[in-house]
Amino acid sequence: MARGCDAIRGMDIWTRTLVEEGAFVDEQAKLAGVWTFLGLTSDLKEDDAWITGQIGGRAVFVQRFGGTLRGFENVCAHRGFPLRLGGKGRGAVICGFHLWRYNADGRVVGVPIAQEAFGCSAEELHAGLAELEVACCGGLVFGRFAHQAPAGPLSGGLEAFLGDAFPMLETICQFSDAPAVRTYGRIVEANWKLMINITLDDSHLPAIHGRKRFSRRDEFDYWRFGAHSAHTEGQQETQAAMLADCVAGVYQPVRYKLFNLFPNVAIGLLRLGPYWYVLLQHFEPVGPAETKWRAHYFRTPWRAGAEPLLAPQSPRTTDRIVAWLFERVARRVNEEDHIACERQQTNARNIPPPIALLSAHEERIGWFYETWRMSQPGEDGSPRL
Ligand code: FES
Ligand SMILES: [Fe+2]
Repeated sequence: MARGCDAIRGMDIWTRTLVEEGAFVDEQAKLAGVWTFLGLTSDLKEDDAWITGQIGGRAVFVQRFGGTLRGFENVCAHRGFPLRLGGKGRGAVICGFHLWRYNADGRVVGVPIAQEAFGCSAEELHAGLAELEVACCGGLVFGRFAHQAPAGPLSGGLEAFLGDAFPMLETICQFSDAPAVRTYGRIVEANWKLMINITLDDSHLPAIHGRKRFSRRDEFDYWRFGAHSAHTEGQQETQAAMLADCVAGVYQPVRYKLFNLFPNVAIGLLRLGPYWYVLLQHFEPVGPAETKWRAHYFRTPWRAGAEPLLAPQSPRTTDRIVAWLFERVARRVNEEDHIACERQQTNARNIPPPIALLSAHEERIGWFYETWRMSQPGEDGSPRL
């Protein structure tokens, strides 16, 4: 036992977070102040609609109160019951355990038989929920515990945090014409970072997905936006050109792209039938070897040219056909990735930090690792760079 503990203490902090509950919990706590993807505004259109999520290992929910979105830790101030059960829903904030009621500021405003039970009114208890800072980029909802925001490049508002990626994703991820969002997912028995890394990896396609050959490096390009990055098909379209078109409101997709936003979301822009679609992967860390993974996809406003088979259909019918065709392929490819991650996880205590032997097709894994180290300051609070 003692020898096992010594062995864990000797591991790099990266490796420890893959296998040790304490290191994983500590890692997550340090991410509580980093903007984290929580869900889509399409689930928050109506008053009192809510979604749940995780930030830094803490359960949270975001709710619409009239014109604003507010976010709170999903822990009742009375005795810790989860205020929201499930992924999404609608209703006033009333705890299901003893019926305490909260307002839009997260303050307790209703306690049954308060005078008899506590000798004062609900308001005089001065109880409330821990509040999140919530912000949106187009239809993407993010949150963070602002008072825990780290110093340096991971601080700042959402727009500063996302940098050039903000106008691009604001443009791509819109719900102006209310497309249907389809969702599927599963629990994957692998660490969230291994799952992120396979989405950043352009050298696993022949072995894992049966591609006939490795892509040449000039067939794709990588863009970097501070903590975040993107893979783009081809090298003709530049980061500056896409940014300028998005800012000017004249962007038209021409090639496949995959944006990875630190820490927990990957957003692909891909052509499916006669439209461009967004396929978004959401990674929610559950434990050192467990991740809740969900994929959401939806049609964007952009047509990709007429397709003889699909062009005459209405967008809604197109969505149904695309869903039928696309999900079969996407689920298989996703599953191939997940099985690979689960196999890699079986060796987790022997996986070193991804700093050596990264190929030109794995450059973004190195970037992700740099950002992750920055998010995990040492005992003295200094960044581990
Ligand atoms: S735990 Fe929520 S009202 Fe008691
Ligand atoms: Fe893959």
